[in-house]
Amino acid sequence: MYKLLIRPVFFLFNAEFIHNISLFLVKVLYSFPGLKGISKKLFCLENEKLSIEFEDLKFKNRIGLAAGFDKNAKYLDELETFGFSHVEVGTITPKPQEGNDKPRLFRLKSDSALLNRMGFNNDGVDIILNRLKKYKGDMVIGANIGKNKTTSNENAVEDYLFSFKILRNYVDYFTVNISSPNTPDLRKLQSKSNLETLLSKIQIENSKEKKVPLFVKIAPDLEVRELKDIIEVCEKNKINGIIATNTTVSKQKIKNKKIDELGEGGISGKPIADVSNDVIAFIKKNSKLKIIGVGGIFNFSDLQDKLNAGADIVQVYTGWIYEGPSMIKSINKAFLEIE
Ligand SMILES: Cc1cc2nc3c(=O)[nH]c(=O)nc-3n(C[C@H](O)[C@H](O)[C@H](O)COP(=O)(O)O)c2cc1C
Repeated sequence: MYKLLIRPVFFLFNAEFIHNISLFLVKVLYSFPGLKGISKKLFCLENEKLSIEFEDLKFKNRIGLAAGFDKNAKYLDELETFGFSHVEVGTITPKPQEGNDKPRLFRLKSDSALLNRMGFNNDGVDIILNRLKKYKGDMVIGANIGKNKTTSNENAVEDYLFSFKILRNYVDYFTVNISSPNTPDLRKLQSKSNLETLLSKIQIENSKEKKVPLFVKIAPDLEVRELKDIIEVCEKNKINGIIATNTTVSKQKIKNKKIDELGEGGISGKPIADVSNDVIAFIKKNSKLKIIGVGGIFNFSDLQDKLNAGADIVQVYTGWIYEGPSMIKSINKAFLEIE
């Protein structure tokens, strides 16, 4: 029904507008008694065989919602009814920020992809903390943290530490985001020396109280040499794992003729599935780091590709926009059938 009736209407409107309005409507609808329960019945599949222990956290299945969808932790109760085992909120910055000018999110329908240059629009860590405190559900919650646009790379560590300290008792894991293409120079934090400074300082802070699992989210556009450096620095600093990958800045695989007119941004969805799998396979072959696979998952076969490449669990974003609310349940159902 989603693909036949709802998606064609949604896709007539600006992508960011539809994102916001549909989440708002879901919130309103779910305030009516019983509707949340109906959604759970329709879209969730509970089965102990789906669950997995991962870095001392219990995930009810292997599929989570990637960062950027619920940047402000506004919709956790609603998202829980669509079957996700975890939601990664953020990217969160210390101070609130507007992000880039609109329009900044575009569908590339013939490519089953999205292009975005959101630029870490978010309410800032203090407001998001208050929302996280209220969540009492059973999903694992990750906080994806980054730096404000106005913070230089030299001072970036302070931004990451600031949000880390505020959120550490209210989330289950952290993701250090150094791979968004939409914050100027952020990806330079992936370089060996910058990353060493950043991760070592966060881990010093992390060791002061109960340790929270820490992941590093990387781009799909890295050279082999850069990937090796990242692995080395992550292992040296006892990082739990890598999230592979963020969006790509490469437009090589895009069929949409208007791609250049849309301007800068990161591409997600089908075009990044293979490159993300290659990055995952490389990390698996060259390290003992855990891997959260993300990029271009639309169905069960895409999930299998990620797991076969070496991912322990996965996240989705673009696939969910294209496939609709029953996607997680149908993937989990297929997973159970081959168990
Ligand atoms: C509109 C949009 C906003 C995003 N915002 C963030 C973000 O704030 N932080 C982040 O780490 N990744 C962000 N991402 C990247 C996703 O988390 C994910 O890594 C990427 O989209 C690849 O997965 P997919 O092909 O399933 O979409 C965003 C993606 C999209 C489409």
